[in-house]
Amino acid sequence: MGNKGFSPLGLLCGCVVFIQTLHLVYGDVTYSIQEEMKRGSVIGNIAKDLGLEVGRLSSRNARIDIEGNRKQFCDINTRNGDLVVAERIDREELCGEKVSCIIRFELVLEGPLEMHHVLLHIQDINDNAPIFPKDLVRIEISESAVKGARFPINEANDADINENDVQSYKLERNDNFDLKVNTNADGGKYSELILYKELDREEKREMSLLLTALDGGSPQRSGTVVIQITVLDANDNAPVFSQAVYKASLPENSDVDTVVVRLSATDVDEGLNGEVSYEFSRISDLAAKLFAVNQKTGVIQVSGPIDFEEGTTYEMRIEAKDGYGLTSNAKVIIDITDVNDNAPVIYLKSLTNPIPENVSPGTEVGIINVQDRDSENNRQVRCSIQQNVPFKLVPSIKNYYSLVTTGQLDREVVSDYNITITATDEGSPPLSSSKTIQLSVADVNDNPPVFEEQSYSAYVAENNKPGSTLCSVTARDQDWRQNGTVIYSLLPGEVNGAPVSSYLSVNGDTGVIHVVRSFDYEQFRTFKVHVMARDNGSPPLSSNVTVSVFLTDLNDNSPQILYPAPEGNSFMTELVPKAAHGGSLVSKVIAVDADSGQNAWLSYHIVKSTDPGLFTIGLHSGEIRTQRDISESDNMKQNLIVAVKDNGQPSLSATCAMFLLISDNLAEVPELKDMSHDERNSKLTSYLIIALVSVSTFFLTFIIVILGVRFCRRRKPRLLFDGAVAIPSAYLPPNYAEVDGTGTLRSTYNYDAYLTTGSRTSDFKFVRSYNDNTLPADQTLRKSPTDFADVFGDCDGFPEVGTSFRFQSASPVGD
Ligand SMILES: *[C@@H]1O[C@H](CO)[C@@H](O)[C@H](O)[C@H]1NC(C)=O
Ligand SMILES: *[C@@H]1O[C@H](CO)[C@@H](O)[C@H](O)[C@H]1NC(C)=O
Ligand SMILES: *[C@@H]1O[C@H](CO)[C@@H](O)[C@H](O)[C@H]1NC(C)=O
Repeated sequence: MGNKGFSPLGLLCGCVVFIQTLHLVYGDVTYSIQEEMKRGSVIGNIAKDLGLEVGRLSSRNARIDIEGNRKQFCDINTRNGDLVVAERIDREELCGEKVSCIIRFELVLEGPLEMHHVLLHIQDINDNAPIFPKDLVRIEISESAVKGARFPINEANDADINENDVQSYKLERNDNFDLKVNTNADGGKYSELILYKELDREEKREMSLLLTALDGGSPQRSGTVVIQITVLDANDNAPVFSQAVYKASLPENSDVDTVVVRLSATDVDEGLNGEVSYEFSRISDLAAKLFAVNQKTGVIQVSGPIDFEEGTTYEMRIEAKDGYGLTSNAKVIIDITDVNDNAPVIYLKSLTNPIPENVSPGTEVGIINVQDRDSENNRQVRCSIQQNVPFKLVPSIKNYYSLVTTGQLDREVVSDYNITITATDEGSPPLSSSKTIQLSVADVNDNPPVFEEQSYSAYVAENNKPGSTLCSVTARDQDWRQNGTVIYSLLPGEVNGAPVSSYLSVNGDTGVIHVVRSFDYEQFRTFKVHVMARDNGSPPLSSNVTVSVFLTDLNDNSPQILYPAPEGNSFMTELVPKAAHGGSLVSKVIAVDADSGQNAWLSYHIVKSTDPGLFTIGLHSGEIRTQRDISESDNMKQNLIVAVKDNGQPSLSATCAMFLLISDNLAEVPELKDMSHDERNSKLTSYLIIALVSVSTFFLTFIIVILGVRFCRRRKPRLLFDGAVAIPSAYLPPNYAEVDGTGTLRSTYNYDAYLTTGSRTSDFKFVRSYNDNTLPADQTLRKSPTDFADVFGDCDGFPEVGTSFRFQSASPVGD
């Protein structure tokens, strides 16, 4: 580099091929050429510049000599002396970044040896473009980077120098960055990205910018680099819900874990910054029991029993939170829809129980209320009642029903009702429920006691023991308790003038009828009493029944011999004409029996006689007849002992003695009196008879007078007596009239009897009425005449007077 003495000005005018300076005497010659000249390009005529003889160049063996073994960039054309380019000259290769680039070589001539230094200044041309160290520059910038932040970019290099080196940079248009070009300490130019608008990763997470470096050459060359910017996330975004309000509808009774709604909040941040978790931020205690949110997925699920009736809408706020705690809220509204899950409920609001059986149809018995907790159609309820009861439901105010009777109740038919009320809602499927109301019908005393039979008949044998049971009557009353309790009693009345209570008594509780006293069939044969059955209600109801008591006969009366007088007292003697033929009626034993029927069916027997073959007695008539003609040889005095027996079981009997005198004339029998066992007695009897007849006559007269008076009052007792002979009352049967319950005289027995008091001529005959049931004589005697009339009934007229006296009952036979 000894040629530093060259004016730099000469270098600056490098475009000039020729150089004015020429150093003689081994002086140096300097040329300046641009790099990259073509081979053969003429640099200059060195022969001329050095003043060399062109013709001799060749002969002098002119040549270019390079120090060392460096490349021979130039050559000399020995024919004309031009210095030409022999090799490609690349300044950058030769000199790099050096500002001046000089190739030194010598021109050597021989003959004489002559050496000239030649300096070849290599001028730069813009043959290199700027080059960035890498094609791609990656930069990571946090999105949180603030405005003005600088991001230097490695400078681009250009092998050329000076003007041809990198002069400027250019950045592709973009939204975020500006470019600033700075100069290094060493003069190199580099660029910086300057953030003038913040990055948003969420908007653009990467961007590529093309940075171009330009040199100052002409033509200008450039180099580019791609700056790849990755925006790094910062937790600058809160999660964002997809909706501000989530609405969901959920049927009640949904199963646990049923998905109600899926929330979704997105956080555009990355990683933890974008990890969203969900939780309820405001929720009622009730809703908290029913719903749960999945922290990770944001799915709200059922976690408890959902009941529409508990709540129909739930509102809650939910919060989404990212990893670093940025949150946002959304509202969730869950509407519960009704499901027909509640059956109607029937409430009995009031009930009249028991209800009297006599309430009129249409009476309100109870009030029913029906409720259903569901809504709308599910709570529309219809109420019904079963068909077979006399009740119905009448709709009242909303959801209220009256239970009313539809017909007459009768406790004796149905005493209890189970009324089943069914309520059905109109849901789908409908639900129903039912309630059974037990209703009792209270008794009202509406049934009288009813006897089991329309009338009762009781049979009792006479001579019964007082206190014995006669029969029992039963009446039933359908009513309840005291309304159905039957009490028996005898209705007051009279039987034969005596109060019924002296005959019978009835057990008030059992209806058993007892006999109070002993009955005599011969006194009366039948009577009626009325028994009343009464219940204990208030007022009581009653019914009556007739009890007919029939007495039955016992053989308690022995036959009574009216004629002849009973044995021992008889003084009567029958005369039997001597001329009597066989079969002639001699006499007749007259006997009566107070009993009746078989017990009064008498038979007559001769138990002892003086001459057994002479007399017979009619078995039933009692007529004594001769069996054969009387003969002279027959004893005048004949004695017969006659027994009279009734047909009872056992039979009773009586005997009498009969004295027969076979004679035509009583006077013929001086020893008549001997026949008598006791003459004095006979005489006394005769006197007694006379006295009795007198008294009787007087009595009859008196009676007739009385009856006459009565007759004038149109009351006509029918007692007929005629003749002067009266039968001593002892001869009369003890009972002579029958009075039945109605006071009617009944069946009549007529007896014809012939009484002979010693003489056939003084026969008298009486026709008497003999009644089976007659009043006792003593009672009769106590009666007033009026009573007689009552007893005997009406008399048709005054008795006719005849040779017989008649004593009969006048009323028609009742049976
Ligand atoms: C009513 O129901 C009760 C109890 O279930 C029962 O004992 C009774 O017999 C029923 N009555 C009627 C009349 O059905
Ligand atoms: C009997 O009937 C009456 C009404 O006649 C009624 O008031 C009473 O309660 C009834 N007695 C009973 C025990 O049922
Ligand atoms: C029963 O007899 C009594 C007394 O004669 C009377 O008061 C009552 O009304 C009668 N009862 C009936 C049901 O006939």
